Amino acid sequence: MMSTSKLIVHTQNTPLRGTITVPGDKSISHRAVLLASLAEGVSVIRNWLPAGDTLATLEVMRTLGVHIDVDERLPQAWDLRVEGRGLRGLRRPAGPLNCRNAGTAIRLLAGVMAGQSFPSVLDGSEQLRRRPMRRVTEPLQLMGADIRAEEGHAPLYIRPSTLHGVSYSLPVASAQVKSALLLAGLYTGDAVRVFQPGPARDHTERLLMAMGAVVTMQAGWATLSDAPLGGRRLLPLDMTVPGDFSSAAFPIVAATIVPHSEITIRGVGVNETRTGLLHVLRQMGANIAISSQQVTGGEVAADVSVGFAELHGVDVDGPTVVRTIDEFPVWAVAATQAVDHSTVRDAAELRVKEVDRIALLAQELRRLGANIDEHQDGFTVHGPTRLKGASVESHDDHRLGMALAVAGLVADEPTLIHDAACMADSFPGFVDTMAQLGAAMEWVKPA
Ligand code: S3P
Repeated sequence: MMSTSKLIVHTQNTPLRGTITVPGDKSISHRAVLLASLAEGVSVIRNWLPAGDTLATLEVMRTLGVHIDVDERLPQAWDLRVEGRGLRGLRRPAGPLNCRNAGTAIRLLAGVMAGQSFPSVLDGSEQLRRRPMRRVTEPLQLMGADIRAEEGHAPLYIRPSTLHGVSYSLPVASAQVKSALLLAGLYTGDAVRVFQPGPARDHTERLLMAMGAVVTMQAGWATLSDAPLGGRRLLPLDMTVPGDFSSAAFPIVAATIVPHSEITIRGVGVNETRTGLLHVLRQMGANIAISSQQVTGGEVAADVSVGFAELHGVDVDGPTVVRTIDEFPVWAVAATQAVDHSTVRDAAELRVKEVDRIALLAQELRRLGANIDEHQDGFTVHGPTRLKGASVESHDDHRLGMALAVAGLVADEPTLIHDAACMADSFPGFVDTMAQLGAAMEWVKPA
């Protein structure tokens, strides 16, 4: 969502205080609307996230003939009623399916569309067209898919074919690729086995299980069992999407670094494949408590309470990286306030996210006075640093934009963030939510 929107963040001279919620989980919202569309019967999905990325998936499912009623209960929390068409009931689209900026949408849909009896084209924004797609087209081809991507980039051209099972070892832990293969597996009678070299998020597996599919997760393998006689079918969902831990990460870090802060975020998804940041921040000395755990849609949600803490540096590598992958931009901001250096390694994946999150994060945080060294597979932040206000860019990356906004709270002068509207790709209402905690941020009104 490129725009000329600007956000100004002032030095936060008062503690952040209060209790908030964050919008529903993005990964689960994509999957829930997609899988509900393939179910037999009507699904109800509460607290669904209406963000730029997830709306792309919802619109694609409508284009494929799925009837979806929306109750816009709150601007940032919709309740959906999805009339599933069964695995084989989707309608042939008239043109390319637009996944906008959403990597999760295009990669998951690649698996589903490979199983259809009609051709389709998956495409998206210029930003999406720059992201690597071979990681999903190659293993789908091993399953018999007829899928083509010029030079390994979108658009993806898909034609009908007969799919079969596969046993595939992912070169890089990727929940999107794992999910694409499991979803394509719904269109085979065979087992599909995917090995992941690290604990990539398992929301697809959990939802498939909630819908009656037989999925096992063991020793790094996610397996969709072969189909019973009569073929596969998915039962409809009745669920509430938990708050997005990746969105909660911004107020969590903000409350950790703004002196005397004390906040609580209610109903946050704390699936272990997502909460590496909690582990890492606690190692740095953060003051975070989890309470009131409850299960919803096969996922655990909880209240997260955070108080200000003096941090010290830490090294992050290995399996923790996958569990923290989307949180490194805001973690880097915490690291600027920590005594001693903090390093992340084994995170080359950051270079192929919405943008190169190593190069651009380092570039923008340096503008604020941070001391960062780039590595091919990560970066080192030398702290603690007194940040200074500056004019910075989101580069149309929602998480980079929000991380810079959190940094602005502890900068000495105001920070101006250009192209800040992209924050709504994952966290609509970010500024209002932060304002509920007393954060001094405001949109610059167009002249
Ligand atoms: C996602 C998986 C992760 C993550 C992305 C969302 C998902 O990417 O970074 O923001 O919903 O499956 P990978 O598939 O590259 O691990």
